[in-house]
Amino acid sequence: MSGRVVGSELIEDARQRGRIVFEILPGDIVTDVAREMAQRVGIKLVDGPLEKPQTIASDGNTAMRRGLYRRGAKWVAPARNIRPSARRFSKIALIGAGGVGGNIAHLAAMADMADEITLIDIAPGLAAATALDLNHASGITGAKARCIGSENLSMVSGADIVVVTAGRARSPGMTRADLIQSNTRVVHAAAAAIRSGAPDAIVIVVTNPLDEMTVEMLRATEFPRERVLGMAGTLDSSRFRNALALAAGVQPADVQAITLGSHGEEMAPITSLARIKGRPLEVFLSVKQIAACAKDAVTGGGQVVALKKSGSATIAPAHSTIELMDHIRGARLGPVPVSVMLAGEYGISGVVLGVPAHLGQSGMVSVEQLRLTDDELKSLRSAADAIRQRLGMTP
Ligand code: LAC
Repeated sequence: MSGRVVGSELIEDARQRGRIVFEILPGDIVTDVAREMAQRVGIKLVDGPLEKPQTIASDGNTAMRRGLYRRGAKWVAPARNIRPSARRFSKIALIGAGGVGGNIAHLAAMADMADEITLIDIAPGLAAATALDLNHASGITGAKARCIGSENLSMVSGADIVVVTAGRARSPGMTRADLIQSNTRVVHAAAAAIRSGAPDAIVIVVTNPLDEMTVEMLRATEFPRERVLGMAGTLDSSRFRNALALAAGVQPADVQAITLGSHGEEMAPITSLARIKGRPLEVFLSVKQIAACAKDAVTGGGQVVALKKSGSATIAPAHSTIELMDHIRGARLGPVPVSVMLAGEYGISGVVLGVPAHLGQSGMVSVEQLRLTDDELKSLRSAADAIRQRLGMTP
């Protein structure tokens, strides 16, 4: 390979382009003046060839469609504004002040969602410490919500919204369904306290296995289905959107996609209705890539568990819970994926499953009936069967 003579003019050119490294290829000769100049202007000379960033793998047809589309009309991602007319809660109670509960409290305080945020956890001092920590931040953030921590479940009293994150988290190799036994007890204890202390509250269940624990919360509180919601679809949909955005090389805001079904192995990422920059996924991605993104959504929680070794995801689940609370308080409009007890919607009854629904100040307002493909409908029905089976319910 015949090399270049790298003189000061090439360094000057790199400087003008705002470069901070200059790649020296095998065979290049670098003059002393160039070395001295590079040092002076803060450009690092590095031995190349440097590894190139990986390009997005795709087949020829997809590449061509993508190229054609990129010459099309300019896409503007829809803005995600909080509506100024959004209501504030008077009291949010969080049963479980671990990673998810703590992050929910933080986000809720920053969004000025409530007058009072009460954290409850059986771990001695944990909820009180987190509450104190959050209150300490208010001198900088100006957050108005007062945070209170307690080990006593009776502190749910008077809450208009209760989020239950308490319970065991998965360890690597476990499925969410492996937690049924231990977490049912936790959910029943929480339900008893909610039933007596906050009988008008809307309950958001986050404890896993999500759909099964939402059924248990409904059974134990005997609340109407409108007031017992499970948080999973917002999280799984966010993971699906992230995967699609990465694969297509676009911003997450350019992607609209939801997942329905269970929060587990029978999750159903809805590819037929998903859009990237307003276009069907196939405009940007191959069938194989779409399948990989769907798998990424299904395995997303497990990927975090595997990396952490102990405990599961906290930040994305907290944001996803806040998303439901935003819909309940009218800060966001439109359907949102949420686990609710179905009463004939999508041909399914008597089991909790992730579906798109409209939420409002009394909880679930209505289930949105989307036009799904036969395969997608089939996945929803098999998810319902799997949940029924795990709970020992007759179909
Ligand atoms: C997850 C847990 C919270 O999906 O289920 O990360």
